[in-house]
Amino acid sequence: MNYEQSAKAQTERLMADGHATILAIESSCDETAAAIVRDGRQVISSVISSQIPLHAMYGGVVPEIASRAHVESVDPVVDEALKKAGMTLSDVDAVAVTYAPGLIGAVLVAVSFAKSVAYSLGVPLIPVHHIRGHIAANYLAFPDLEPPFLALAISGGNTLIVDVKDYTDMEILGATRDDAAGECFDKAARVLGLPYPGGKPMDELARQSQGGVYDLPRAHVDGADLDMSFSGLKTAVVNLAHNAQQKGEPLDRAALARDFTRAVSDELVPRAIEAARRCGRRTIVAAGGVAANSIIRADLKAACEKEGCTLYVPPLRLCGDNGAMIGAQGYYEYLAGRRGGLDLNAYATMDLDEKE
Ligand code: KG4
Repeated sequence: MNYEQSAKAQTERLMADGHATILAIESSCDETAAAIVRDGRQVISSVISSQIPLHAMYGGVVPEIASRAHVESVDPVVDEALKKAGMTLSDVDAVAVTYAPGLIGAVLVAVSFAKSVAYSLGVPLIPVHHIRGHIAANYLAFPDLEPPFLALAISGGNTLIVDVKDYTDMEILGATRDDAAGECFDKAARVLGLPYPGGKPMDELARQSQGGVYDLPRAHVDGADLDMSFSGLKTAVVNLAHNAQQKGEPLDRAALARDFTRAVSDELVPRAIEAARRCGRRTIVAAGGVAANSIIRADLKAACEKEGCTLYVPPLRLCGDNGAMIGAQGYYEYLAGRRGGLDLNAYATMDLDEKE
């Protein structure tokens, strides 16, 4: 039996009972991660190897360093995920992998690895869009959560407002026109002298002030009012910090962090509510690394309460990149018949509602 025949036979067997133990692998940015997830909802094990110390001295992710570190880590991380789950590769029914979007050299590592594991086991390979994975992290935390809902996906590389009509049927309603929210946090943090990645230290600094000191811009995209923009805000913070430095004037860093976060939140939260109104959704789901932000979480909670919407925000451990979220979405992609062949490629960019 060749690979295609064996994967097809395995698919038929799994589809008959609807259960699947999925090995999921993620390497799209600076975390090498693997997880074993059962039926899209239960995390049996999850292992994350962070590269942050390797990139911190450069103030951001260095793509070539990231790719090399993924090559070194992917095998031990997958081994550890299996070990923690008390399983061997023979217990794996299917392999899910992030194939887009991300740093191309980095994404390629998990894609190549996943292909070889799937091939050697003769099991199906499931390509998963990274942002779909972030949204699916919520299925792991909230057993009662089911589509349809409105998702606000805010990470280091993407900022999207998505109508999640079904597990694999999604439509982008709004997106950033330039920088992602997380990227903006990282750049603003850098000018405030905070370490990379800057989101968490910015959050901690912002909580030390009530703000109201700095008047920062809010962007509006003519004719596309659910779209967002963060580059003007980023430039405003950079200019404020540099001007203060050049003039030798004091900078209230905590107030600036607070006012900056308020500006980001003002860009995101009202648009998410408006998008939910427009598509008639009463449930809003947050996802991605920036969803860890305490101020944005509080603003979302208040706005949803006012609107009468139910809000789901993943626990902090599921906000950042991890393999479990890829296993969760992978299960639903699998049920929808999504398969990758041995010619599966990695992609640096891809819309999450792109139809192949
Ligand atoms: O989702 P993620 O781990 O990676 C991507 O898929 O991009 O997101 C990483 C981003 C970084 O920009 C990081 O600074 C930001 O999430 N982040 C935060 C917080 N924690 C992480 N941003 C704001 N507040 C936080 N508490």
